[in-house]
Amino acid sequence: MNQQITIEDAVQGDLEAVIALDRAGLKEDKIGYWRGVFQRYVESGRTDRVFLVAKQGGTPVGFIIGEVRAWEFGSPPCGWVFALTVSPSVREGGIGKKMFDEICQRLKQAGVSTVRTMVDIDSKLTLSFFRGMGMRTGRYIELEKQID
Ligand SMILES: CC(C)(COP(=O)(O)OP(=O)(O)OC[C@H]1O[C@@H](n2cnc3c(N)ncnc32)[C@H](O)[C@@H]1OP(=O)(O)O)[C@@H](O)C(=O)NCCC(=O)NCCS
Repeated sequence: MNQQITIEDAVQGDLEAVIALDRAGLKEDKIGYWRGVFQRYVESGRTDRVFLVAKQGGTPVGFIIGEVRAWEFGSPPCGWVFALTVSPSVREGGIGKKMFDEICQRLKQAGVSTVRTMVDIDSKLTLSFFRGMGMRTGRYIELEKQID
């Protein structure tokens, strides 16, 4: 495919495509989760919640979601990117970078100057991507404990 890539605000009609893209890397059913995400990040129309879809010739091939979060863990408002996927068939073509650059611009317009994310310790690909985007170890450390 040689068609132009566009980065657009997600619309309700992208729901099925986003679920399909997500399934490429997931085992469990997350349809209810995605309906909730569309309600919160697509229908709200808020500029501090950003859900972008990359389209190639009008077909969704990736998405990125983030938002401004304020005063969690004592932090002043900052941007968080919490979901990102590019279709395996079009990876390493600059689409992830294009979406990341655009969400950073949107978050900046929403008033923040820092963007954060979390990466699975086993996901070298994701870590390489975010490092390639200029992200470095931040000032917070994630802690967890099994409580069941
Ligand atoms: C991570 C991901 C979004 C990258 O998307 P992409 O469109 O392939 O990325 P780009 O082509 O824009 O690459 C940008 C940079 O990322 C890094 N990168 C991308 N693919 C890489 C790979 N296979 N190995 C090492 N580094 C890689 C490079 O630094 C690259 O810059 P370069 O091209 O100048 O070397 C994509 O691989 C993906 O969807 N992975 C699975 C899902 C995932 O990990 N999501 C994030 C957690 S929610």
